[in-house]
Amino acid sequence: MQNFTYYTPTRVVFGKGEVERVGELLRAEGARKVLIHYGGESARRSGLLERVERAVKDQGIDFVSLGGVVPNPRLSKVREGITLARAEGVDFILAVGGGSVIDSAKAIGYGIPYEGDVWDFYSGTAQPERVCPVGAVLTLSAAGSEMSNSSVISDEENGLKWGLNNDICRCRFAVMDPELTYTLPPYQTACGVVDILMHTMERYFTHEKDTALTDELAEGLMRTVMDCGRKALRDPKDYNARAQIMWAGSLSHNGLTGCGTVGDWASHRMEHELSALFDVAHGAGLAAIWGSWARYVYREEPERFAQFAVKVMGCPNDFRDPEKTALAGIEAMEQYYREIGMPTSVRELGHDLNESEIQLLAEKCARRNPNLGGFKTLSQDDMIQIFRMAR
Ligand code: NZQ
Ligand code: ZN
Repeated sequence: MQNFTYYTPTRVVFGKGEVERVGELLRAEGARKVLIHYGGESARRSGLLERVERAVKDQGIDFVSLGGVVPNPRLSKVREGITLARAEGVDFILAVGGGSVIDSAKAIGYGIPYEGDVWDFYSGTAQPERVCPVGAVLTLSAAGSEMSNSSVISDEENGLKWGLNNDICRCRFAVMDPELTYTLPPYQTACGVVDILMHTMERYFTHEKDTALTDELAEGLMRTVMDCGRKALRDPKDYNARAQIMWAGSLSHNGLTGCGTVGDWASHRMEHELSALFDVAHGAGLAAIWGSWARYVYREEPERFAQFAVKVMGCPNDFRDPEKTALAGIEAMEQYYREIGMPTSVRELGHDLNESEIQLLAEKCARRNPNLGGFKTLSQDDMIQIFRMAR
């Protein structure tokens, strides 16, 4: 087991009706002028924005609003937010939405106190030292940005989708009311389920030994999410299923299921190239790639994949042939993806990858991520093979 630092400073306020407490939470943070940041129409249509605005006003806190964040959030919107926030004297950013809105809010938070261009932090040419604080009202269980230290932004002009990980920009609080996710379309619910599973799987496929507790937490989380994913798709207003998924979304990406392990993250980084090129939903992109990645790397340690097959997917254990058990587990996970309406190839995502696109995806990914992959380190050529398999 590796040494680790577990740091999760976000105050979680979870459950029915907790949205009404957002004003009080902002007051406790000392907020005087808030930027309420949101996406398209979903938060307005459901009445959520109005509830949030009322709760903020009731505390005598001033606010300004900026909507229009799109999935795979854009750098141009971030720049717009920075300009607006500076002009208005904003001292706190409240994200009302899913991962894209929270990531955009974090980026604005990085940009406000910085004299240069905020993209410097994402490209790695500068390190952030100060941020304008961010809080979240979560409407989609998926990315885990409400408790993670990440923000992923797309530079749409240059076709880049890059992440920034830094502990100084964790949400101060996250309001999580599972009822807010009742209005999610089935496709988004399923994308979220995949992303949550993947945040734990990226940490689970490791060669680290003696991680019994972390393994059990990860396996329990994955089984719960799969089970509740089915239930939420059957009945979108199943509170308990929505609640388990929502909590799992945060725990899956706040570091808990990776304590003591070395994460892999190849599927994620390769998916980010796919969504940079084709603007696909992140969870669907992950589902399209994962099986190919898994079949390409499982021989590095078939026993680990066999453990996943048995303890997560419920496959019978063939002790004499761990490779067979491993492959059965990969097939079972892909079967689950199909069951919840997710693609298991890029073609099913709606794109027929040609050879030059494959070369481009791999080239960009390898340039951004030399030595990618904790379970198997991938060269550019390995990435080409995986993208071909995922075609
Ligand atoms: O724009 P609106 O109208 O709100 O619609 C959104 C959007 O179209 C809709 N939606 C959200 N809540 C809803 C709802 N529709 C109905 N009812 C609700 N309650 O859902 C659509 C997708 O939203 P988005 O925020 O894009 O989804 P998600 O939360 O999956 O976030 C995806 C982004 O997060 C990044 C991904 O790469 C992607 O850019 N990630 C961020 C991470 C992080 N910061 O830690 C880690 C992840 O691995 C991931 O990379
Ligand atoms: Zn993800």
